[in-house]
Amino acid sequence: MHRTHTCGELRITDLGKTVTLSGWVQKSRDLGGMTFIDVRDRYGITQLTFNSEDDEALRSQARELGREYVIKVTGTVIERSSKNSKIPTGEIEIKVSNLEILNESKLPPFTIEDETDGGEDIRMKYRYLDIRRNPVKNSLLFRHKVAQEVRNYLSSLDFCEVETPYLIKSTPEGARDFIVPSRMNPGQFYALPQSPQTFKQLLMVGGLDKYFQIVKCFRDEDLRADRQPEFTQIDCEMSFVEQEDILNVFEGMTRHLLKNIHGIELEQFPRMTFDEAMRTYGNDKPDIRFGMKFGELNAVAQHKDFAIFNNAELVVGIAVPEAASYTRKQIDELTDWVKRPQVGASGMVYVKCEADGTFKSSVDKFYDQSDLAKWAEATGAKAGDLILVLSGPANKVRAQLSALRMELGNRLGLRKPDEFAPLWVIDFPLLEWDEDTERYHAMHHPFTSPKVEDMPLLDTDPGKVRANAYDLVLNGNEIGGGSIRIHDKDMQALMFKHLGFTPEQAQDQFGFLMNAFQYGAPPHGGLAFGLDRLVAILGGQETIRDFIAFPKNNSGRDVMIDAPATIAKEQLDELGLGIK
Ligand code: AMO
Repeated sequence: MHRTHTCGELRITDLGKTVTLSGWVQKSRDLGGMTFIDVRDRYGITQLTFNSEDDEALRSQARELGREYVIKVTGTVIERSSKNSKIPTGEIEIKVSNLEILNESKLPPFTIEDETDGGEDIRMKYRYLDIRRNPVKNSLLFRHKVAQEVRNYLSSLDFCEVETPYLIKSTPEGARDFIVPSRMNPGQFYALPQSPQTFKQLLMVGGLDKYFQIVKCFRDEDLRADRQPEFTQIDCEMSFVEQEDILNVFEGMTRHLLKNIHGIELEQFPRMTFDEAMRTYGNDKPDIRFGMKFGELNAVAQHKDFAIFNNAELVVGIAVPEAASYTRKQIDELTDWVKRPQVGASGMVYVKCEADGTFKSSVDKFYDQSDLAKWAEATGAKAGDLILVLSGPANKVRAQLSALRMELGNRLGLRKPDEFAPLWVIDFPLLEWDEDTERYHAMHHPFTSPKVEDMPLLDTDPGKVRANAYDLVLNGNEIGGGSIRIHDKDMQALMFKHLGFTPEQAQDQFGFLMNAFQYGAPPHGGLAFGLDRLVAILGGQETIRDFIAFPKNNSGRDVMIDAPATIAKEQLDELGLGIK
């Protein structure tokens, strides 16, 4: 038998028991005639003692052990003379009578401690060692718990988990596909799914009624802290539902998670239209844990001689709480920050709302106290606040001010990781103009239904048509998105036409779906959560890599297995990809 107990299990109530433990050597210390070894497994750490007076040979054997050796010990549980209140096993230790080395270990390239000396690259290369560390191990256990709660909740509502294929045909959802060549069909390729979108709709045509799947999705897009080339969705679809039904079920799921994981009971989630989110926060995924809402200033700033504002499509500002005391240097640094190419503002105007009710601004030459009082009113600034104002083309300036707002939210500690502020963003536009291809693209995907009342605009002002589409935002991150789908074949054909597909192209790419719609497709809709993002945010973080067992780096590489890699010429030839 390898063990009677785990390394995290024994307590003072176990005194006198003969036990066997197995695990890794965390560290060893020699003190006079004694050797102490900490042995670790997934469940915790237990101290082992070896005394020369009892067994000199056994103690010498213990002194030979290196870090991360795998050992098995048998001994008696005794009370510690100096207790360690920091760990659950800290009141006891094991007086060892037998020690067996199960496996030796090379010296690990970084310390297996909560605070390690290993940098990101080396930890990724030796990810299996990194997983021995508490922060990584606990993140994986946390992810498991979230996934389990998701399954419990959805199963209790009669959702059925169905696996859909990974070797499919390309589904256009905005990103590039990963492609897999077919050996049996030379010159032909599968695509890995960006999501199971069309399959889940076919399951609804199949009458399954409520589907979910915790499923890998693959997108060949540029990577960021919240994006991986392969990531996991909690993908869901329901039949005979309207938007309201979907929002209720998945608000319920999010509430269930927060309650069962953090013991937090949330009120009904607020809702905001896409337009309002863009106007108030410059962003379709606003972090509403803090204020600094946008105040539009065109009406109160465009009547003086300040040409920059007069010529701008939008003049918009935020009130930074209690920042009127910022020094010139601090404001200059913020100005440089918004002028970085990543943000791209051309400059920034500030107004200090002094404690005595007066204003001091960088544009005092153009605006008097009563003008500036109107700016304060529009941005909600109080005495002691600092108003920061940007101007330019509306879409650009909103994005710039949103970036500044988030940066200040971080700097001022307003984005508290243990506070959860969900928000439904609804009424997304159906279509989005793409400058490069000079045509409209589906903002969500081509299967999303337009709002009936906006249908007449499809021919006259397509950009104004709103969709039955929604996102769930948590703490400034898009954790899920979905829509009510088109279930009528003529409507779907019309949508493809508006997206610039010829009938032949539509038939070629989506014939299978349009054919299915001829056989009684029920009204249906759904959404997908990003599991990695959801887990990271519930865990109080925003970097999803930390919650993925074997993530890829920012260049899309797995540095541990060294992929992607070249393949042998024979393999290329077999796939019909050999260089002729
Ligand atoms: P969407 O493309 O919005 O919708 O994706 C759903 C959710 O998946 C997460 N996500 C990602 N997470 C990590 N890395 C990525 N590269 C990545 N891309 C997306 C986000 C996002 O909200 N088929 C539709 C859903 C539907 O309509 O039902 C879809 O895939 O959290």
